[in-house]
Amino acid sequence: MNMKPIEARSGNYNLKNYEETYNDFNWEDVKKQFSWNETGKVNIAYEAIDRHADDPSMKDKVALHYSAPGREETLTFEDLKKKSNQFANVLDKYGINKGDRVFLFMPRSPEFYMSFLGILKKAAIAGPLFEAFMEQAVHDRLEDSEAKMLITTPDLLERVPQDKLPHLKQIVLVGDTTGFEGDQYIDFQKEMNEASESFDVEWVDLEDGMLLHYTSGSTGKPKGVYHVHNAMIQHYATGKWVLDLKEDDVYWCTADPGWVTGTSYGVFAPWLNGVTNVIRGGRFSPDDWYETIAKNNVTVWYSAPTAFRMLMSAGSEPVNKYDLSSLRHILSVGEPLNPEVIHWGMEVFDKRIHDTWWMTETGAMLICNYPCMDMKPGSMGRPIPGVEASIVDNEGNELPPRQMGNLAIKKGWPSMMRQIWKRPEKYESYFINGWYVSGDSAYMDEEGYFWFQGRLDDVINTSGERVGPFEVESKLIEHPAVGEAGVIGKPDPERGEIIKAFITLVDGYEESDELLEDIRQFVKKGLSAHAAPREIEIKDKIPKTRSGKIMRRLLKSWELGLPTGDTSTLEE
Ligand code: PRX
Repeated sequence: MNMKPIEARSGNYNLKNYEETYNDFNWEDVKKQFSWNETGKVNIAYEAIDRHADDPSMKDKVALHYSAPGREETLTFEDLKKKSNQFANVLDKYGINKGDRVFLFMPRSPEFYMSFLGILKKAAIAGPLFEAFMEQAVHDRLEDSEAKMLITTPDLLERVPQDKLPHLKQIVLVGDTTGFEGDQYIDFQKEMNEASESFDVEWVDLEDGMLLHYTSGSTGKPKGVYHVHNAMIQHYATGKWVLDLKEDDVYWCTADPGWVTGTSYGVFAPWLNGVTNVIRGGRFSPDDWYETIAKNNVTVWYSAPTAFRMLMSAGSEPVNKYDLSSLRHILSVGEPLNPEVIHWGMEVFDKRIHDTWWMTETGAMLICNYPCMDMKPGSMGRPIPGVEASIVDNEGNELPPRQMGNLAIKKGWPSMMRQIWKRPEKYESYFINGWYVSGDSAYMDEEGYFWFQGRLDDVINTSGERVGPFEVESKLIEHPAVGEAGVIGKPDPERGEIIKAFITLVDGYEESDELLEDIRQFVKKGLSAHAAPREIEIKDKIPKTRSGKIMRRLLKSWELGLPTGDTSTLEE
């Protein structure tokens, strides 16, 4: 896939020369940007919001521009400081302490951001959940984290199995609370109205926890990836070099904060850089999206390949209706960015779409395309300054250029996860010979550009969302008609992959379209829409190893008509 590089255009970029910066780099210089470098007082929410709110030239600047169907709101840095202080006071009143897990299960809204920042100011640990999660998914995450408090809406509360969550003591309701009786319910608006606008931020250690993001692996329940305040160093730096954020920018990250992109780059990177942040609620539609750019004069736009592909297939009619000339820099994350999409971007926006690679576990961008750098379509780019990336074999030995292997990062970058919640052995298993091994396969070319090749495990990436096959299989077999289940990702031109399930039927059940739809709905209602299999195929048997592990690789080879490879461990 070696196409002609797309040359960088000249411009006054924050990162002027990639090689020079990379070779002559020191994280200590970045740390000098933070107030704690002088005061010793650390808190990421203080750096993101209060620091600007306390600066007379910045306090009235718009921090958050929120829009959703039927609602529009603008908050300055000073507004956000006051609102998050109020919420921190509410947490204080209800006995939330440093390190307590406070989860958020609600749509993107100004209340989400006030609460989220308030949690951090109170030195508690925030756990954002996708609004689309259904009961099982919500339960597993709240149970594992032993969350003490949940912030949600009255509508979503029916998906919270309160009786099965002994640690969950308090529920803050955002919205109309009539009919909710009981000491556990707290009325968000009422408490906010009564709370003081000043709060003494709780100072923490750089290594203290701030965020728990649940993400999927190929085995077991989702795991809690634990991030600490220190991550701000890299959020800030990548905001500067990769997003190329400058004072006058209007920035829009399309990701939901239930996903790490929506926190690291939907909260921290823009606000640490003091930039106006656009948040759009509601569903995706090409018109709404283009309108968001046009109406807010968005200059820097961070989105995902699935979204770009959907915009691409919507054709030129919607795009031609809007003036998108404010855009100066476009970026992508989450799945491989097809060269075709980059070429489409050149045509309709006259801009390159810059791919970035990272993961929930890495906390921030690691391998990127920079505005100052020539871009090779199909490549994820080169490591950020201060980070060493390589391709290693299974023992952690580095491989020469063009050889495929494990994409690995030298342990110890600032935003690296510090724990897998309550699972130290799982955490250790990511590191081999001093390298963090990502689970992605890739190769590096002679010029140090990295090229993504695929996942090495069975994790499915559907529309940029990571789905663990085990979680879906577990839900499937709860359906009375399903005996066994094996779940794989099947390549799909728009979504990257779709979820395909192979199942066996329990005796007495007959295959029918209604039954398959019922099974699909069962997963959708129990887990989440994005985890529901788009295709279900009935088999007599699900292939397993002699030790009882589902051989998803074999299912995949069958599906794709590929050679089945080594099947020596297959049970007869
Ligand atoms: O397989 C890689 C894919 O997404 C995985 C990480 O998913 P998640 O933790 O949900 O975080 C996504 C956003 C940070 C990776 O292991 N991935 C992410 N970015 C890219 C990518 N695959 C190809 N190209 C990318 N730029």
